[in-house]
Amino acid sequence: MITSKFIFTAIILIVTSSVFGQSKRWYSDDQVKQGQHLFQKKCAKCHGVNAEGEPDWRQTDENGEYPPPPLNGLAYARHHTLDQLRQQIQVGSGMAKGEMPAFINKISTTDIDAVIAFFQSKWTDAIYQSWKTRQLVSATKHLNIDEAPKQHPGTYWLKQHLSGAKVTHGKPMKTPVKGIREVKVNNDYVYLSEDGRYAFTGHMIDLSNGSDLTVLNQATETKRLLQTYSIKDMLIYPAQGKERAQLTIFTDTSCSFCRKMHKEIPLLQSEGVSVHFIPYPRRGLDGKGYAELKSIWCSEDPVLALSTYIDERVLPDLRENCKNTGAVDAGYQLGNSLGISGTPLLILENGKRIKGYKTASKIISTMNIPLEDM
Ligand code: HEC
Repeated sequence: MITSKFIFTAIILIVTSSVFGQSKRWYSDDQVKQGQHLFQKKCAKCHGVNAEGEPDWRQTDENGEYPPPPLNGLAYARHHTLDQLRQQIQVGSGMAKGEMPAFINKISTTDIDAVIAFFQSKWTDAIYQSWKTRQLVSATKHLNIDEAPKQHPGTYWLKQHLSGAKVTHGKPMKTPVKGIREVKVNNDYVYLSEDGRYAFTGHMIDLSNGSDLTVLNQATETKRLLQTYSIKDMLIYPAQGKERAQLTIFTDTSCSFCRKMHKEIPLLQSEGVSVHFIPYPRRGLDGKGYAELKSIWCSEDPVLALSTYIDERVLPDLRENCKNTGAVDAGYQLGNSLGISGTPLLILENGKRIKGYKTASKIISTMNIPLEDM
């Protein structure tokens, strides 16, 4: 990742075309099928049949080695390029602290690609898209500069280069930096030289006041997208007394940090924060989280059902002819268009994001709200 710092003063809002729906992937269904077979034979005993990994993959075991991590998009595999993934499979743990064998002379390169296709098919669109944008840096595909149209060649190239990526239509937006334009690719921002030949990713920082303009752009876009989700579909835990702030949380009850997060809610409420929950099944529409969220959101009293599930792990039965079935699907789509890569995801009123579990006092200090009695 090339991080560039530029002085930049305007905030630009880019409106993208509809970002819902399955994005185009680099592999075919046949590759996934072939990969599934191989994965079960060669990888599943360590990484799990659905590539879910070991639950405690973040910590070394008693021998000081790392257990097999998830490859389903919820761990670090999404930070590696395609070549890095191929290489990891070929050389195995090597010098790293782990027990993964090398597959270099055991599986053909075609089969390695198929295995990757299989575990990437478990990635949600949001995770796949942000992975795709990152490929920009390491892409090896060469394009003919003369093929690009005179108008906005950069956007044209990005589209060709990252086939299947969602590149903002129309012309790239100006930035306060002379000659540097900005386009939204999937859920990230990419900066382009005037002739469109050079692209770089990273954050634009206004050094005069330290503000991160890329994050501000993303926050503005997040706020706009959040408004597309019906407030009626959110589960609301209102502030006690006067409301001083609102917090939106994307949650998945099958995620243990989300359940832990939930225990902080009474504290937030007592400090004047209203908490709005949006369901986000992080494993997609066929995972455990989806079924759980659906039966909670569909129940007669969803707020009670959510709290009961957190405290007692008892789920209401999924009601027939439930009116609220669309809430979880819509939450999933919204989360994908925001590029969520994990839960819980907290969103402040200004659209800024806080990733992962945080204590109530930490959240309140980030909110920067004047709380008389604190
Ligand atoms: C004997 C257990 C074992 C087997 C079999 C195994 N792995 Fe691994 N794998 C691991 C461990 C442990 C790690 C983490 C430590 C490391 O990076 O070496 C790992 C890491 C990885 C990573 C890097 C993930 C990351 O988050 O950086 C990939 C990709 C991967 N394995 C793919 C595969 C594939 C594909 C197969 C089957 C062809 C496979 N593994 C078979 C144990 C195994």
